[in-house]
Amino acid sequence: MTDLTQHAAVQSADADAANMSSQIVDRRVSFSYAEDFEAIWTPLAPEFSCAANSVSLLMPYIEPYFVKSVRRFVPQLDDQLAETSHAYLKQELQHHLAHREFNDQMADHYRGVSRLERMMRNTINWLHTKRSPKFNLAFAASSETIAYSAARWAAERRTELFGQADPVAASMFLWHLGEEVEHKSAAFDVFKAVDGSKLRYVTSMILSMILLMFFVACGTTLMLWHERRLFNPVAHVRLWRWAIPFAFEVLTNLVVSATGNHHPTDFADPSFYELWLREYDHETGTLPLWDAAATAPSHSISELR
Ligand SMILES: [Fe+2]
Ligand SMILES: [Fe+2]
Repeated sequence: MTDLTQHAAVQSADADAANMSSQIVDRRVSFSYAEDFEAIWTPLAPEFSCAANSVSLLMPYIEPYFVKSVRRFVPQLDDQLAETSHAYLKQELQHHLAHREFNDQMADHYRGVSRLERMMRNTINWLHTKRSPKFNLAFAASSETIAYSAARWAAERRTELFGQADPVAASMFLWHLGEEVEHKSAAFDVFKAVDGSKLRYVTSMILSMILLMFFVACGTTLMLWHERRLFNPVAHVRLWRWAIPFAFEVLTNLVVSATGNHHPTDFADPSFYELWLREYDHETGTLPLWDAAATAPSHSISELR
């Protein structure tokens, strides 16, 4: 195959992936980390590890909250929407289990992580018990738009962010982000079917963004301190260089999602995740490991179990 034909084939595969209507697939992957796994698993961008680890800390609290918020309304849904919701809930449960395992290592690396986790747990418990079921559902729907935006932002920068990254940790984050793209409409459809209040959607969106920024700032500060990078100007320049386009991506998508008759399928998906996740092997429960050298998944199926 000539370079040009190869290029055309890749473009065509990309277009297929971008246009495929996403089906929510139940993938049972598990990740085993090396005994000497480093908390700074992106050596070319150590600050990114701190920020990503901080997002990870929140997942075992916020994702079960999404699950409970959506599951409560499933009996009211029609069969098709109920089936999609079940598939969505299964993915979220897998995500939080994978992050729980990952986070246990963070607690071993950094003193203070357990206290931060307690704050996260208390905040999410407060939301779950003190806010109305409809607000919680709106919170899940708007947070899914944030997760989708994060996936799009990361896909565009995967070479920079995950270059020379630990392949297992990178695969765990990229698998999660890929499934966030896959189920980007699920919570939104449930919210539309049972409520659809723009006021609740916008309020929950603002709160979700504030909580995410607050906890990621706390976690990143804590980890940078331990890594002796908190007062390193390069660390701050890098963080802002990522944070500004991230905020732009998220805020644009949130505003669009709150206006008119928007539906998440109106968003164009990055084809990278779709192409990678297609290589999941249902028989063995394996995905190709992220290949940092090629800055794309390796084509040899690697055992993740
Ligand atoms: Fe998730
Ligand atoms: Fe999600």
